[in-house]
Amino acid sequence: MTERRAPVLYVIVCAAGPAERVTVLIEAARARGWDTYVVPTPTAEDFLDLDEVQRISGHPVRSAWRRPGDGGSLPAADAIVVAPASYNSINKWAAGTADCYALGLLAELGGAGTPIALLPNVNSAFAANRVYQRSLDELRASGVHVLVGPGLIEPHPPRTDNAEHFPWHLALDALERSRR
Ligand SMILES: Cc1cc2nc3c(=O)[nH]c(=O)nc-3n(C[C@H](O)[C@H](O)[C@H](O)COP(=O)(O)O)c2cc1C
Repeated sequence: MTERRAPVLYVIVCAAGPAERVTVLIEAARARGWDTYVVPTPTAEDFLDLDEVQRISGHPVRSAWRRPGDGGSLPAADAIVVAPASYNSINKWAAGTADCYALGLLAELGGAGTPIALLPNVNSAFAANRVYQRSLDELRASGVHVLVGPGLIEPHPPRTDNAEHFPWHLALDALERSRR
């Protein structure tokens, strides 16, 4: 009998408030049958307890490209969650910038058609920027599941913290729907 492997989920984490609770997402994803690989932006690494994230995800955290000659590429992704996504990374991703491993994966795998769910954590002042709205439109047009709007995630007021109520499950729900 052939053993079916668990689907592989990349969890891309940006340097935004809820990042320090990303283990909530990882635990939920594993409980739903995903094999999770966490890829923070370089700035987001400081928001994470890397040992704890590695323990819960089951794999080393990877924020940089391999060096030539190093082994161990990540297994191919079946889907990607970008959560929490920062204003900075959303705009860079939509503009095509690939100056860190996380953004490089999004550029390459988005182009290859891998399903991607995006959960921003951006306050209403940042979100009011036309460039941000343009970036979300660009990502929607590229087929990204942009989980923004009524009943999804909405910008929070400046100087407030919604980390405790961050709706991680929306990303998993969207990806599961896209795989049916
Ligand atoms: C404690 C802290 C919380 C932050 N929270 C957010 C946030 O929720 N959303 C956001 O867009 N930026 C937030 N920022 C600013 C980002 O960290 C900053 O724009 C950074 O350059 C983003 O890096 P990245 O997009 O490469 O992960 C926060 C910064 C700090 C220090």
